[in-house]
Amino acid sequence: MNISRSVSLLAGLALLGSLATSASAEDEQFKHAEKLYDTYCAQCHGMNRDGNGLNSAFISVQPRDHSDPKGMGDIPNDEIIEVIKKGGLAANKSVLMPAWGGIFSDEEVDQLAAYLRHICNCGSN
Ligand code: HEC
Repeated sequence: MNISRSVSLLAGLALLGSLATSASAEDEQFKHAEKLYDTYCAQCHGMNRDGNGLNSAFISVQPRDHSDPKGMGDIPNDEIIEVIKKGGLAANKSVLMPAWGGIFSDEEVDQLAAYLRHICNCGSN
């Protein structure tokens, strides 16, 4: 292998290394919210975050697809936080979306809202 080839190989490895670090920092940031989601939200919103959780077959209003950038991008952050705390009714949505304000701290609700933005890959508005 000539020198220039091995230099570019090293550069490639360094790049991979930095990508891996940023991914794990991100994992760290959302770790708690992800655990909350798996425990409290996935049965309706789905393990894939696409609204197809186990319960979705049994309820008349379908849970929001949290992986949909358009649908989620249209919901302002304030509404997401309000709905998580006070339930669907707080935003004139279905009562089938439960209220979690008594279960999570404000900080956890904020973490969940940020996690939802991360999943949908849509910026906050
Ligand atoms: C019992 C089923 C159920 C569970 C559990 C549940 N949801 Fe929902 N969720 C729904 C339904 C149904 C809707 C759709 C409501 C509508 O469109 O009227 C919804 C909608 C939403 C929305 C969109 C609100 C909007 O303004 O359109 C968000 C955000 C959300 N849920 C977050 C969560 C989070 C976070 C959790 C876990 C802490 C959770 N949900 C747990 C059923 C559920």
